Amino acid sequence: MSRLIFKRRSIRKFKELAIPDEAISQILKAAMAAPSANNIKAWHFVVITKTELLARLAQIHPYGKMLNQAAAAILVCGDAAKQSVTGYLHMDCAAATQNILLEATSLDIGSVWLGIYPRDKRMIEISDFLNLPKSILPVSLVALGYPAEYKPANNPWQAEAVHYNKW
Ligand SMILES: Cc1cc2nc3c(=O)[nH]c(=O)nc-3n(C[C@H](O)[C@H](O)[C@H](O)COP(=O)(O)O)c2cc1C
Repeated sequence: MSRLIFKRRSIRKFKELAIPDEAISQILKAAMAAPSANNIKAWHFVVITKTELLARLAQIHPYGKMLNQAAAAILVCGDAAKQSVTGYLHMDCAAATQNILLEATSLDIGSVWLGIYPRDKRMIEISDFLNLPKSILPVSLVALGYPAEYKPANNPWQAEAVHYNKW
């Protein structure tokens, strides 16, 4: 597993190749295996595969131009009617998002996390565009596709970020 964690990189260039339905299902299963506060699992996943919808999302998201090339995108949302502590809702969705990235990596599918929450404008525009119910909060969008760029494994050791027994 740890090799997978280091292999995961943000991929923003994709081949023109569809992702099989089984791979998408496997990625969603991984998302649903994320830890969840009170085990409420108040998440929803909107899978977008239609080119014209991906293109519109690329217009809405200021740093999401790679959506024009992506084979799919998954919008991770939280249901505020099920989890009333919105901080937990966002953390659950973040954990699910990371699982999506890792499972995609394990399938040799490239991915990049596109922030939605806490940017009000993006949250409103995406909610309107996808007609999300009132209680459903969009948290993150993941662009997916077979990689058309290679990035070396991460080498992220930050000694200054580690504190033993005291600050
Ligand atoms: C909350 C969050 C929001 C992000 N938003 C964007 C984004 O809008 N567009 C983008 O291209 N990358 C986005 N990223 C990806 C980061 O830029 C990327 O993870 C970082 O540069 C490190 O590169 P790596 O993922 O290859 O290790 C986001 C990552 C996180 C965790």
